[in-house]
Amino acid sequence: MTTGYRRSDGAGPAQLAAMQALASRLWSWSSRWHPGELAWFWCEHGRPDPSWRLAHWRHGDRVVAWAWARAGRLDLQLDPAHLALTERIVAWSGATSVTVLDAETALAADLARHGYLRQDDARFFAHLRRPLAGLPDVPTLPNGYTLRPVAGPADAAARAAVHAAAFDVTMTEAGYRGVMRAPSYRPELDWLVLAPDGTPAASALAWVDGEIAVLEPVGTDPRHRRRGLAAAATLAALSAASDLGAKHARVCARGDDGYPAARAAYEALGFRAYARNVRLARPG
Ligand SMILES: CC(C)(COP(=O)(O)OP(=O)(O)OC[C@H]1O[C@@H](n2cnc3c(N)ncnc32)[C@H](O)[C@@H]1OP(=O)(O)O)[C@@H](O)C(=O)NCCC(=O)NCCS
Repeated sequence: MTTGYRRSDGAGPAQLAAMQALASRLWSWSSRWHPGELAWFWCEHGRPDPSWRLAHWRHGDRVVAWAWARAGRLDLQLDPAHLALTERIVAWSGATSVTVLDAETALAADLARHGYLRQDDARFFAHLRRPLAGLPDVPTLPNGYTLRPVAGPADAAARAAVHAAAFDVTMTEAGYRGVMRAPSYRPELDWLVLAPDGTPAASALAWVDGEIAVLEPVGTDPRHRRRGLAAAATLAALSAASDLGAKHARVCARGDDGYPAARAAYEALGFRAYARNVRLARPG
């Protein structure tokens, strides 16, 4: 059945809200998407990139699919009861490459019927999880370092600076204020470590949706690594998530051996890999 679907294009707040509604409704350990990381990926660049193409599809009042196409690549989420939409979505995107979670077996099989076949890329992201029961205590920080939740917009410059240093990217104070304006952003889930001289050294941000918290992102300025700062910020954010009712946490990290640091940092906190992203591609 391919009738009764209504597509909405655009990159406004309503698009993100529709995507998050589907991510929330479909959440399971077989789902690639959590509403929190959608908020982060959307907001981390300040505003939607003009080159992005975004759409969601409704059936009746219900969002049943969304698609995010950029540079020939497609990310999507599709209600398994509406796989009839796959063909329309890939045609709409024109993408040569689609990323899915390996646990999304029905979607991957349907994409294979449309010519998208699994690529064994050397670089991939793993999904790791841990229960929030039995969370280790936040460790004592090295002398002079302090840990606290962000204090709102006044900390946007510090948060932007530590993110930029950790990930070697551009992130401005105005950009981080945009993250803070995301409706699901909670300052009590955003933790900052300050060095003895007061400069920002590490941070961890969690997002909660129902019983699931997701970490996105966690980072330590290279000048302060291997001092337990990411571990402390992460455990503080997870403890706050637990206080808000989350029962489990999930995080994505490179799963290949080309960049083991992040995975090692999460495994040291009890996270274990349970699924991975795979890229499906079709010739041309
Ligand atoms: C991953 C990252 C956040 C770790 O920050 P950190 O403050 O250095 O981590 P911690 O000191 O808390 O490390 C805790 C434990 O994690 C593991 N770990 C951390 N970095 C590691 C590395 N480079 N290699 C191996 N194990 C590592 C170790 O078990 C470490 O304990 P140890 O130092 O006693 O051996 C940091 O390297 C970083 O910001 N990287 C760039 C951004 C990134 O990849 N973020 C994560 C994905 S969102």
